[in-house]
Amino acid sequence: MSSLKREIDRLQALERMTAELRTQIENAKNGVIVDNDDEEYKKLLIENTKLKHRLSILENAIETERKASSGGGNISTTTSFTPATVPTIVNEMISIHQHLTDVFTNAIAIAFEQLAGTTAIISPVAANASKFGDYQCNSAMSIAKSLKLLGINKSPRDIANEILKQVQPSPLIAKLEVAGAGFINVFLEKTYAVRALNNILNSSVKPPHCTKRRVLVDFSSPNIAKEMHVGHLRSTIIGESTCRFLEYMGHDVLRVNHLGDWGTQFGMLIAHLEDRFPKFTTESPPISDLQAFYKESKKRFDENEEFKKRAYDRVVKLQSGEKNSTKAWNLICDVSRKEFQKIYDRLDVKITEKGESFYQSRMLDVIKLLESKNLLEMDEGRKIMWPEESKSGIPLTIVKSDGGFTYDTSDMAAIRYRIEEEKADWLIYVVDAGQSTHLKNIYLAAERSGIFNPKIHRADHVQFGVVLGEDGKKFKTRSGDSVKLSELLDEGLKRSLETLKEKNRDKTLTEEELHEIQESVAYGCIKYADLSHNRINEYVFSFDKMLEDRGNTAVYLLYAYTRICSIARNCGEDFSDLKKILKSKSIELEHEKEWKLAKTLLKFPDVLIKISGDLLLHSLCEFCYDVATVFSEFYDNCYCIEKDKSGKIIKVNHSRILLCEATAAVLRQCFYILGLKPVQKI
Ligand code: ARG
Repeated sequence: MSSLKREIDRLQALERMTAELRTQIENAKNGVIVDNDDEEYKKLLIENTKLKHRLSILENAIETERKASSGGGNISTTTSFTPATVPTIVNEMISIHQHLTDVFTNAIAIAFEQLAGTTAIISPVAANASKFGDYQCNSAMSIAKSLKLLGINKSPRDIANEILKQVQPSPLIAKLEVAGAGFINVFLEKTYAVRALNNILNSSVKPPHCTKRRVLVDFSSPNIAKEMHVGHLRSTIIGESTCRFLEYMGHDVLRVNHLGDWGTQFGMLIAHLEDRFPKFTTESPPISDLQAFYKESKKRFDENEEFKKRAYDRVVKLQSGEKNSTKAWNLICDVSRKEFQKIYDRLDVKITEKGESFYQSRMLDVIKLLESKNLLEMDEGRKIMWPEESKSGIPLTIVKSDGGFTYDTSDMAAIRYRIEEEKADWLIYVVDAGQSTHLKNIYLAAERSGIFNPKIHRADHVQFGVVLGEDGKKFKTRSGDSVKLSELLDEGLKRSLETLKEKNRDKTLTEEELHEIQESVAYGCIKYADLSHNRINEYVFSFDKMLEDRGNTAVYLLYAYTRICSIARNCGEDFSDLKKILKSKSIELEHEKEWKLAKTLLKFPDVLIKISGDLLLHSLCEFCYDVATVFSEFYDNCYCIEKDKSGKIIKVNHSRILLCEATAAVLRQCFYILGLKPVQKI
């Protein structure tokens, strides 16, 4: 315990020093006089380079400590990289991109000491330009510019050659060469690829190493008594897949439904329930259509002063915990909750409710905290808080003039609870792009009040654009109403059955199989259509497009996967125990298309590392689509089995079937993250 404490102290000290150095660098930068001949400028520049170097050493030290304390990774991202650590990897897949970045960053630090700490720029080479290698290091050009600033003139080609000389041998690299203006082409090593693919078959598809965090994902979060609209559908789909992704990467994930279950509208709902169904304390009231019930109560609230007063009174009673109001509120919430749960069950979503009401007492506490820090200001009867000391932007309303709390108040209480009580160090809000100012203000205000520390905590707004109909306008029914989610899912089921019938699948499949595929296709295509677009943009909801069996769609991928699985199933030999087969057979990558497929599969960890940074899941969809198309190329060019004229199998190519199985394993893992349910037949 005490050694752990010491480790933590050291880490914190290192972090503090890094922060100080960063500030010094910033100051140095700000003090720069733009005239390049200025002596002061040159001095600052050299100072700056030195500081950057020290900073990188510190950052590397921190990273090494972190890895050590979280169970250890196999590849070091530090300058102390030793190639001997790589070949022993069994449990993690390596991100080739990350590995090459480490190797070249190291080589740059040795070749150009003045520029140590400069991270190498590595980019993948398009699969059909493989004569230029598989990856490229493009750092020489920018290094030439940096050296020039230090008064050293060197051509990028010479620089590339010098870097190349310093690259430590790596089991991943077969060959390096300098090309063109100063690119270093990297050719991957086949024996490494074979080993990595055998690992997949032997012990499943393991994620690459990353520092583990406790992540709280706030997603779905519809509002009681109001429509769960397509925006909430996006949040639900993206949120569920984000959680699955993070869990797969090994993080500790808390899935939270920040239900809108508190606030003024409950006063009118309760008052209306009392009038329409006074027996509600002993009998279940008929409010199955909560939406209609909400509309009625709203009408009364707007038209009838006496009702309005009573509604306000009920809010106060509810918030002070009065028995009957609480009972009525519970009944109303239950009706909604059941509806939401039906959607979650259909889409296979797991989420824990912690709605706004959960924070009632914590809202009182957070106000006390803000008051004690003198962060609240009176403004026309309201208590407001400026997210930044400079008072720029929009203030948060913490207490309304009638004493009530707001969306800002519950989010302030929630962020505090999540960090201080749940001990989350990564907060993710899967909420529409329209709320980005609100969320930014919440992190800033939390930082200002000492709750959120950006050096320790990470916060991401996983935002998404609006859903449009095929006419390019906001998604609505023909009559102009908003679309009910359950009806949308029903429509998906209907359409997917129609497409299956068009292909006469109902003639070859049993009823049960047909039903399973119908659901897999319907829900799969709705999820995939959402996830395969860059979430930041709006997207057009079109059943016709999402049900197409060509292009980057769920249907195409489900077909591709089923076909891949059927190869091993129909080869006439038992491929169910891969471990046993691997004892005598191995993957060989002789044919050009086999090699191409292998390299495509081994990009999986690169994709996962990228998503860890930007949380953009469409890259995973693009990866699946790549795998499926490259697989087709392989399958069209390479026989897995050979048959004689009578159709009898005369030769089984074990290596290729193993490659099919590795492809299936990688796709299966992606499908799980994307919420697609693979089917045996389609
Ligand atoms: N209920 C909100 C809405 O429908 C979304 C809540 C998002 N989460 C949060 N912590 N503000 O817009």
